[in-house]
Amino acid sequence: MPDRLDLPAGFRWGAATAAYQIEGAVDEDGRGPSVWDVFVARPGAVRDGHTGAVACDHYHRYPEDIALMKDLGLDGYRFSIAWPRIQPTGAGPVNAAGLAFYDRLVDALLEAGIEPLPTLFHWDLPQALEDHGGWLNRDTAYRFAEYAGTVADRLGDRVPAWITLNEPFVHTVFGYAMGIHGPGRALMFEALPAAHHQLLGHGLAASVLHERGLKVMLSNNLTPVEPASGSAEDAAAAQAYDALHNRLFTDPVLLGRYPDLSALGVPDDIYGAVHPGDTDLIHTPGLDGLGVNYYNPTRVAAPTDPGLPFDLVDIPDVPHTAFGWPVVPDGLRRLLAHLRESYGTALPPITITENGCSVEESTDPDQPRIDYLAAHLDALAQAVAEGVDVRGYYTWSLLDNFEWAEGYHQRFGLVHVDFATQRRTPRASYAWYRQLIRVHRERFAK
Ligand code: FCB
Repeated sequence: MPDRLDLPAGFRWGAATAAYQIEGAVDEDGRGPSVWDVFVARPGAVRDGHTGAVACDHYHRYPEDIALMKDLGLDGYRFSIAWPRIQPTGAGPVNAAGLAFYDRLVDALLEAGIEPLPTLFHWDLPQALEDHGGWLNRDTAYRFAEYAGTVADRLGDRVPAWITLNEPFVHTVFGYAMGIHGPGRALMFEALPAAHHQLLGHGLAASVLHERGLKVMLSNNLTPVEPASGSAEDAAAAQAYDALHNRLFTDPVLLGRYPDLSALGVPDDIYGAVHPGDTDLIHTPGLDGLGVNYYNPTRVAAPTDPGLPFDLVDIPDVPHTAFGWPVVPDGLRRLLAHLRESYGTALPPITITENGCSVEESTDPDQPRIDYLAAHLDALAQAVAEGVDVRGYYTWSLLDNFEWAEGYHQRFGLVHVDFATQRRTPRASYAWYRQLIRVHRERFAK
């Protein structure tokens, strides 16, 4: 059986974070409010009323964090750019001080020998755009492409590859359908125009980036979907869920068409959002790499609640993370094999842009995290041995950070952060990952 050390030469080792989860400094240097600044102020929205106002204070402490990345031996660092730092109201003139922060960050990464891999949108939409409907408004897609051009003009000379969107599935469903993430709207399936407009924004931004000779990726949260039993009802429910979670996002980008959403009761034109020519705008620019964020498979049964076409059920008899997510490393191999089967030559090279787990703070040394990473990297190596083209792995996350609706309760970091003092302490998993990167690299140096 191939294992993680058999990953190919040139395989890129990385770690990932996102702006609102680590930066803090929400009122500094002209940053405008994002939907998350507004959402966290809603009573009960986030566990214990936590907010990202300070988070890891990375805005000021980035040199220390880059020193940790350098010591870890990372090839690449995935971070996100906060749109409200660049355009405080999501449109119009650029806020020079905000752009200058990412300019310094990129230079410091390059100085440390680490490739910057920015994500343009990781959920922190300028609130001013949300006031006009946010991603439910088609115009937001055009604003996004304009913002992408502005940032690329400044950083494109040093940053070769860009991720447009992070997890449009989670943002649409948690943010617009269920209301458990910012912007906190609970529209159920009528949220889906927000998915289409994000994809349209991706397509328009991809053209802008390609015109500048830059490479484009899109990262989604993908999950292998398994029916709870062999019954026809469970199989139909699993198919409906797969269309919503995975294919709604991957089909238009890779194939230029939406999957059949009729089992969800969603009209073909997604409530009038899809205009003639839109799927071409999404598909034609092409994708240089698919970013896969993998955490767990999803088991689906026929609905018990008549309001939904499926029921999500737990996967028993496997370990669960501190978050309660089932740990199924082989799900990653199955997901990658399924992508290759479904999309064939339309599938670009893959990068795992997130994978990791939260562990109870009291667990020392954090053996569950080491076990999680080791088993997922072995599964990844098996997928590569079976012929899937995977170029890199960015673990979530470098640091403990603001985990959205869970506040500071879920700790995903290779590095522990004491949020009272901002003290960073590398965990056992940090040392483990560092050693893995070193040994893998030495294999090919000889
Ligand atoms: C993903 C998000 C990321 C982080 C991890 C745990 O869905 O992209 O920001 O919260 O989950």
